[in-house]
Amino acid sequence: MTTPSQHEIDTLFSEKEIAQRVETLAGEISNDMSNELLVVVILKGSFVFAADLIRAMDRAGMAPRVEFMTLSSYGKAMKSSGRVELTRDVTEDVGGREVLIVDDILESGRTLAFACDLMAARGASTVKTCLLLDKHEKREVGIEADFVGFRIGDKFVVGYGLDLAHMFRGLPYIGVVRQN
Ligand code: IMP
Ligand code: MG
Repeated sequence: MTTPSQHEIDTLFSEKEIAQRVETLAGEISNDMSNELLVVVILKGSFVFAADLIRAMDRAGMAPRVEFMTLSSYGKAMKSSGRVELTRDVTEDVGGREVLIVDDILESGRTLAFACDLMAARGASTVKTCLLLDKHEKREVGIEADFVGFRIGDKFVVGYGLDLAHMFRGLPYIGVVRQN
């Protein structure tokens, strides 16, 4: 079993940089979407981001409702399995709702495409997406996010909710796992 002490982490985005970007994102969202939108958080990776984002939305004058959905494509590996599984569904009816899907990382695009298709199939009136990180060069499905925190290269990142085999979610910054 790998343990946190076997990995070295280099900071990519500090707590302060993340906080500033989240505040700006909330402003962009409030300019573009109605105040009573339904935020659908894709667990687990985006729970820290979503917690900060909805509070920034409140400061921007919005009153989001929040639902959670668990989608999984990675298992314990550093590479996606390519298959998206819905392991926990939302509990509210999304029919006729303005939905903002919040996720951690846009990579191949499969996870986000799956979530968007599901919300649209259930009759959401609008489906927009807010991603903390965009690994643009890894895209395999033709999908772009409406709101992006930071664009990054092809690096495996952890912290601020993101994990490597369930480790490092509690780091307050986003870092890169050094490959030794
Ligand atoms: P996609 O379906 O290929 O776009 O994969 C996106 C999902 O893979 C994200 O929601 C993350 O859960 C996971 N993921 C992708 N890259 C990383 C990473 O660098 N660190 C941690 N999780 C990642
Ligand atoms: Mg995820």
